[in-house]
Amino acid sequence: MDRIRIVGGNKLNGTIPISGAKNAALPLMIASLLTDETLILDNVPRLADVAQLQRILGNHGLDIMSKGKRPGDHEYQGQTLHISAANIIDTTAPYELVSKMRASFWVIAPLLARMHVAKVSLPGGCAIGTRPVDLLIMALEKLGAELQIDGGYVIAKAPGGLTGAEIDFPKVTVSGTHVALMAATLAKGTTVITNAACEPEIVDVADCLNKMGAKISGAGTPRIEIEGVKKLHGARHTVLPDRIEAGTYAMAVAMTGGDVQLAGARPELLQSALDVLTEAGATITPNNEGIRVTRNGAGISPVKVTTAPFPGFPTDLQAQLMALMACAKGSSHITETIFENRFMHVQELARFGARISLDGETAIIEGIAKLRGAPVMATDLRASVSLVIAALAAEGETTVNRVYHLDRGFERLEEKLSACGATIERISG
Ligand code: UD1
Repeated sequence: MDRIRIVGGNKLNGTIPISGAKNAALPLMIASLLTDETLILDNVPRLADVAQLQRILGNHGLDIMSKGKRPGDHEYQGQTLHISAANIIDTTAPYELVSKMRASFWVIAPLLARMHVAKVSLPGGCAIGTRPVDLLIMALEKLGAELQIDGGYVIAKAPGGLTGAEIDFPKVTVSGTHVALMAATLAKGTTVITNAACEPEIVDVADCLNKMGAKISGAGTPRIEIEGVKKLHGARHTVLPDRIEAGTYAMAVAMTGGDVQLAGARPELLQSALDVLTEAGATITPNNEGIRVTRNGAGISPVKVTTAPFPGFPTDLQAQLMALMACAKGSSHITETIFENRFMHVQELARFGARISLDGETAIIEGIAKLRGAPVMATDLRASVSLVIAALAAEGETTVNRVYHLDRGFERLEEKLSACGATIERISG
């Protein structure tokens, strides 16, 4: 298993190109199941999760072509995928595939909408607390699907097709909103989703679906209206930049000090995180090419932050912020409200000497002057990158084990960081 070795202490200086968003690319790829024409997606990040979803979609009979680089393409430009679901040969998503990536459960929505049947394995356990699918099932039932759970599979049918309905989510859910949105595009009549998730990735998917002929309005607000259409067609869409990747590197610069341009990042996608970084003592300057992050001289100030659905502070940046606060001048509070048990990084950060205690949903971090490198282990995607951030600022050497979590969500992490002066390398095997 690959490891990453980091020798901390270097400031980061230079430019980091921001890749396409994983959390938009995955549902966009899944949306291709809604049409028998080709969907072309540009700026798709080269990530293990994308490759895994390609295998899952291949199992349904989709034809996916990835074009190589063309002359003039930027070195870091994401890949272009041509996805054709002209022939869906299998409406079952088996346990072996779905259990590797939770988001693949979402194929249930387009399969049901277009093929009127789907059999999809329940996603199973996950490292960050229980992540149920009850609200996704509720949304599909509202749209007229008959669902039953048998042998670990959700078996769904809608013999006459889905029908528009009112779907009111009792809690904001990104997965629930994606599923309701995709299913409703081909339902008969109008669907209204209330208490919908407002995340930028929902807006990106809705934009793409509209290019495919869907009639969606209100995406990005808590009330989304979808007028069902008979058929969707092919389209071409560019995946929006990854706000979590941008926020992660911004935290890394705040941690080590230095001056980095996050090329292609869009400040409006992560304003709450940028505000927290400013409060912590970083200087954030949005410009035409992205966001410039600097921190010189002054230390890190402590903050009090609570995670919340967009536009609040994202849960996917909570672990990274905790690494940063480990060296703040004082005591910080970070409260996690989206996922229970999303504090596995606390124990690993303690190996660097960080002083963190837990009180229910809140972590209290007593900042110390310097972290010290240590062997650590990645437990989930965002937790792993918090260990990388801590290691970049720590004195001495760190080895991060189980880096496959990082490969799921961060494209060319070592390359991007070492280009800015970090001492970081991958050790294979
Ligand atoms: C997505 C993101 C993930 C991010 C999360 C919150 C992708 C691929 N993943 O995950 O990176 O951390 O949004 O921004 O986009 N819930 C239920 N019942 C359900 C569905 C969800 O109770 O049927 C709960 C979850 O347990 C959680 C909360 O709702 O407590 C939010 O989950 P959700 O927004 O659906 O997260 P994901 O879409 O799984």
